[in-house]
Amino acid sequence: MTAQIISGTELAKEKRLQLAKEVEQLKKEGIEPGLTVILVGDNPASHSYVKGKQKACAEVGIRSTLLAFPETITESFLLEQIKQLNEDPSVHGILVQLPLPSHINELKVIETIAPEKDVDGFHPINIGRMMVGQKAFLPCTPYGILWMVQSLGVEIAGKHVVVVGRSNIVGKPVGQLFLREHATVTYCHSKTKNLADLTRQADILIVAVGKARLIGAEHVKKGAIVIDVGVNRLEDGKLCGDVNFEEVKEVASYLTPVPKGVGPMTITMLLHNTIEAAREYAH
Ligand code: GUN
Repeated sequence: MTAQIISGTELAKEKRLQLAKEVEQLKKEGIEPGLTVILVGDNPASHSYVKGKQKACAEVGIRSTLLAFPETITESFLLEQIKQLNEDPSVHGILVQLPLPSHINELKVIETIAPEKDVDGFHPINIGRMMVGQKAFLPCTPYGILWMVQSLGVEIAGKHVVVVGRSNIVGKPVGQLFLREHATVTYCHSKTKNLADLTRQADILIVAVGKARLIGAEHVKKGAIVIDVGVNRLEDGKLCGDVNFEEVKEVASYLTPVPKGVGPMTITMLLHNTIEAAREYAH
């Protein structure tokens, strides 16, 4: 068997065409969706992610503003900036690029963003709403993954979803999203014993740990759907995922590549959330 490769780029393109139409409609109603991105310090990966987000905003007609601050700013300065943006009616979405320098408390920063402008879906109020099935901004990577799997037209209810990784941004929430869709969900992490015994049970395997090629053919059941969230830079400068692509493509039924897999979907869901924020909460 050779897996079908799920192109995040293609799916994202399709969805962005629809989002551009939604922005056009909102503009006719006098609402111009606006996202403000806050970037602290000069982490090259963060700079590159932020650039990608801004380019995608321009592509669908969202106005994006970048506030870039040096590594040395204080936590209270950053919190003050966020409070001002919370009060600014032209700003519908606020995104603080993570990670932040170690002298700034990330959770405190996230909790300062007004939940109705938290288009990353990281605020505990949005996470809580998601957990109890209320309307909420869903975190972008998990939402993008769900969208990808749904686009395959396979039934999720009753499937065994195994998530490898338990980060607040991807692992924990993606399991919850699939639970909401009535999957049976197992979480694995660095302390899990006999990882392969568990991952081999997965109908849908989602890997988000940041360890290059952790998952090989021996971890995957024949015909499984495999979603690779990892982005790792190899010594030769090339990017690779948490899944050994060449091996696993011979076993899985569907597999996402790295790059051009989950990444473009994450950004697309950010656009989706920003448009939703403008539509629901513009005043
Ligand atoms: N850092 C890595 N991924 C993300 C993300 O999705 N949002 C933000 N704000 N920071 C990140």
